[in-house]
Amino acid sequence: MTAAAPAASAAVSARPLTIALPKGRTIKPVAALLARAGVIAGDGTEDGPARSLAEALEGESRALVRRARFGEHALELLLLKPDDVPTYVEYGTADLGVCGRDVLYEREVDVYQPLDLGIGRCRLVVAGRVDVTSAEPGRMPRVATKYPRAAAAHFARRGVQVEIVNVQGSVELAPLTGLADVIVDLVETGTTLVENGLEVKEEILAISTMLVANRASYKLRSVVLGPLVAALRSALASPST
Ligand code: PRP
Repeated sequence: MTAAAPAASAAVSARPLTIALPKGRTIKPVAALLARAGVIAGDGTEDGPARSLAEALEGESRALVRRARFGEHALELLLLKPDDVPTYVEYGTADLGVCGRDVLYEREVDVYQPLDLGIGRCRLVVAGRVDVTSAEPGRMPRVATKYPRAAAAHFARRGVQVEIVNVQGSVELAPLTGLADVIVDLVETGTTLVENGLEVKEEILAISTMLVANRASYKLRSVVLGPLVAALRSALASPST
């Protein structure tokens, strides 16, 4: 071991634990779960009445870094587009992150996945009015999706050659307008499919929100990460109030 190693690890453990969180629909249940696990808003130096973690994370502020604490440990919560969470965790900019299994599957990121948070359960499916093999004769079936890699891998496994068409939203519109024959997309309640005259043809993957960790952080910062992951696990096991 070199002389520099102890100083470097001291610096690592002195900095706040950084958690990448997805802005959007999952932030509310994620804030509630973190609060039940004992995460408190603020760094303890604020004036005035304490804010709940939900208020701190869902408030109007445009600040992208929010301070919090877990026991004696300082936390930095980064508010990110869901697709960017694994990038921050894989590069070690964030020690922990919260992101959907769909994003992990599509991006093939190398992160540790210690816990299924059970939030936002849905399915990644192939849907359409017809099966993909019933496309217009003479041309390759087209698949519209926000998940080009997952879709391509799925049809390659089935041995069906398809053309992948990238879209960013309102995916169900693609088969209605002739842009594509089928879609690969998330289904939660099924309402969007039904209201657009589409149905599930195949299921690809069950999705939920995962706690992810940078592989090096998970070992180097186990003093903080171990208790935090354990507290999250206990919070998941006990009924919410
Ligand atoms: C997601 C998904 C489906 C819809 C499924 O879209 O892409 O379109 O939700 O939900 P349901 O089965 O409960 O109807 P989102 O609302 O994120 O909007 P988007 O179309 O912009 O992707």
